[in-house]
Amino acid sequence: MPLQSDFLINNFLKRMKNFKLDISKVYDFISKEEIFSIKNEAEKQVKSLHNKSGEGNDFLGWVDLPSQISENEIQEIENVAKGLAKKVDYVIVIGIGGSYLGAKFFLEAMSSSFEWLEQAGKYPRVLFAGQNIVEDYLGELTELLKDKKFGIVVISKSGTTTEPAVAFRILKKQLESQVGKENAKELIIAITDAKKGALRELSNIEAYQSFIIPDDAGGRYSVLTPVGLLPIAIAGYSIREFINGAKQMESISGTDTIFEDNPAAIYAATRHALYKKGKKIEILANFNDKLVYFSEWWKQLFGESEGKENKGIFPASVYFTADLHSMGQYIQEGERHIFETVISVSGSDKKIQIPSDEGNLDQLNYIANKRISDVNSMAELGTMLAHVDGGVPNIRIEIDAINEYNLGQLVYFFEKACGISGYLLNINPFNQPGVEAYKKNMFALLEKPGFEKETEEIKKRL
Ligand code: PA5
Repeated sequence: MPLQSDFLINNFLKRMKNFKLDISKVYDFISKEEIFSIKNEAEKQVKSLHNKSGEGNDFLGWVDLPSQISENEIQEIENVAKGLAKKVDYVIVIGIGGSYLGAKFFLEAMSSSFEWLEQAGKYPRVLFAGQNIVEDYLGELTELLKDKKFGIVVISKSGTTTEPAVAFRILKKQLESQVGKENAKELIIAITDAKKGALRELSNIEAYQSFIIPDDAGGRYSVLTPVGLLPIAIAGYSIREFINGAKQMESISGTDTIFEDNPAAIYAATRHALYKKGKKIEILANFNDKLVYFSEWWKQLFGESEGKENKGIFPASVYFTADLHSMGQYIQEGERHIFETVISVSGSDKKIQIPSDEGNLDQLNYIANKRISDVNSMAELGTMLAHVDGGVPNIRIEIDAINEYNLGQLVYFFEKACGISGYLLNINPFNQPGVEAYKKNMFALLEKPGFEKETEEIKKRL
């Protein structure tokens, strides 16, 4: 197939200042022609997403969410967040999976690394529960909250997920015993389905303030709904900027954009071409600890969307340079079934230079007066070249800073790429039938009413 241009990334993308996508370090492993051969299919799948004609099309609400969210909805979220913030010092956000990871990654990325050591300030400190069933975690949390003013945001689309339901039951009781049943109602906000589910029923009975998770937005695609936006607003960050970033990415990754200008389509096609060449594992790497939970969000997005019908790239993550001293060995010399996608942050808020030292026993004077970020950049460049030399294709995404806008852009970029990728694999990226298997066993083991037959069967296996 003839190449229509000698580059895949067109001028428009090259001109974007705050977001860059570089796939040039995959060309030693797959040719531009191989990527370009997916162009038509990728463009077709972008259309399927926007026309809502592909598989799982009842879960495509996220596609135009950034451009469709109204001023009224934004204001309501901001007002409710402000109202709660005035009353409490801590807000416990209860949820798991898609009802947790969006807000979690955002707050980890935006907060000071040492925030947990500081007193809650102008905005309440947002903590999480319901993402595990660990007794010590809940015990420590309830102890911490004993003498604190706190509120609860409970998030569950189904309303019946065990982990958040358990945490909510415990924290609700604690709140009621600390402030009284009636006052507690004012401090609990539910985010759930419009009509069905236990949490909807409970919020109607208790008259909790509540927000709706749209029917057509699945958990892992819900960070731009109240699921992600309310906790972010409570912590004092600009949900408007977050939405604006996503909106910008929505506008450049739609049906009007040709493949060469569509970063989500290029990324999806590139990883698909690598997968076809036997690169079955994608490692999302960052050189900034603040993005560790972004990788967790990304792993859920891609793992739950693509891992079906015995297909799918396995999403893994590392954070460098720490993991260069552990996983770096495998990445450099282990089995060659991996490729790496690096999220690089070019700017930093703080400025720290390495001091010079008279004794120079650590032999660091050769980098004296350099900024820490300069050293990190060279570590990143050196790592990328070493890994490419070691047989690991590298995709690089650069943002100029960690801020609300860029995080919104990244979120939508990966959501869109994930939808396209799922369709390229010919699977439905919007369901998750596999997660039911463990639940069925757990309910049978816990002897949940209605699971008598499963209980009997599972006990025979023990
Ligand atoms: O992406 C998904 O759909 C899942 O990860 C869900 O978000 C997760 O299982 C939590 O479900 P729920 O919001 O119904 O409690």
